[in-house]
Amino acid sequence: MPDIKDEKLAVKGKQRIEWAEKHMPVLRLIKERFEKEKPLKGLRIGCCLHVTTETANLMRTLKAGGAEVKLCASNPLSTQDDVAAALVKEYGIDVYAITGESNEVYYKHINSVLDSKPQITMDDGADLVSTIHSKRKECLEGMIAGTEETTTGVIRFKAMERDKVLKYPIIAVNDATTKFMFDNRYGTGQSTLDGIIRATNILLAGKNLVVAGYGWCGRGFALKAKGMGANITVTEVDHLKALEARMDGFIVKKMNDACKQADLIVTLTGDINVIDKQHFELMKPECLIANSGHFNVEINIAELEKMKKSKRKVRDFVEEYVLQDDKKIYLLGEGRLINLAAAEGHPADVMDMSFANQALSAEYIVKSKGKLENKVYVVPEDIDKNIAKLKLAAMGIEIDSLTEEQKKYLASWETGT
Ligand code: ADE
Repeated sequence: MPDIKDEKLAVKGKQRIEWAEKHMPVLRLIKERFEKEKPLKGLRIGCCLHVTTETANLMRTLKAGGAEVKLCASNPLSTQDDVAAALVKEYGIDVYAITGESNEVYYKHINSVLDSKPQITMDDGADLVSTIHSKRKECLEGMIAGTEETTTGVIRFKAMERDKVLKYPIIAVNDATTKFMFDNRYGTGQSTLDGIIRATNILLAGKNLVVAGYGWCGRGFALKAKGMGANITVTEVDHLKALEARMDGFIVKKMNDACKQADLIVTLTGDINVIDKQHFELMKPECLIANSGHFNVEINIAELEKMKKSKRKVRDFVEEYVLQDDKKIYLLGEGRLINLAAAEGHPADVMDMSFANQALSAEYIVKSKGKLENKVYVVPEDIDKNIAKLKLAAMGIEIDSLTEEQKKYLASWETGT
């Protein structure tokens, strides 16, 4: 039995899913082909993804391909309850997800998906696979392979591969270029701003904004925030990325220094305690802090709780912490990924490519059954390149191709010097 908030929300959910579908032309093409060819016929797929309008369209695509799909949330705060309702009532897909669910219910829902004995897992943050490897080892029997959507999950899987404990193959969808160069950069860039603005309604122009982490997500966010007039300081631990941030025109500092002037600090690192006790102490009064990394570990909330004199909710998604010296600090979205907690996540236009990679990776897993080792694999290059081609075509953009003369020139070492 599915477990959702309210079936009556299905009509609204369906409308929103259809709106997202309009902006997902590549996934639509795949769905049409899957309907005819049924490449996933009879296959059980267990998914742990953010329950959004975009994910709903991925679920419909997998079902069109003949799969039996079960879905739970990959974060307790990101579920769109109307989408969950529509998936169950309108599209016949079992969903176990309720926004704001407790940690206990979150894992109960993961276990409900695993009860269906999936043959493919689709994770966003590795919680399905981690649960299988630690508590539900019986699910390993009959498992073919899995996919992983996000950087944090891929890091976990690579650590498992290194320690030789990974028990089935994983396709790192995150590492496809048509995923990370667009979803992580433009998707996180825009949706993080969207979440912060919806939560606070602040003007970014003229604000001192500290961006912690200059990976693809940090880069994208800094770029968009710069466009809105924020004064940006980047903090990094990697010399190359710090150099890149500097040459992209940003100030680079240590967090200890950067936090003293910050009006807003946003973490996008994938690591723990990036904002810690000493930073709360050094921060300027009234500083806003938010996280857009996968897990709610980047801000040391336990420490903030210990340091507080009082706490109150001042707006949806905004908690005011008053510290012992009466300094106020504002935590957004409980330190959970702000783009999905306070907004709707990445726009459909960019999830189109991410989820095209997911759907085609599921098909690839079926075709490669028995041939993959217990390792982390990249999405095959032909899939990745084809998605870029289809996306450009859907956008009505034509590009040049090499002439025979140019091909010959590029292939030779004798001519043209
Ligand atoms: N991750 C980030 N944005 C998302 C979205 N709109 N749907 C599913 N997963 C996401």
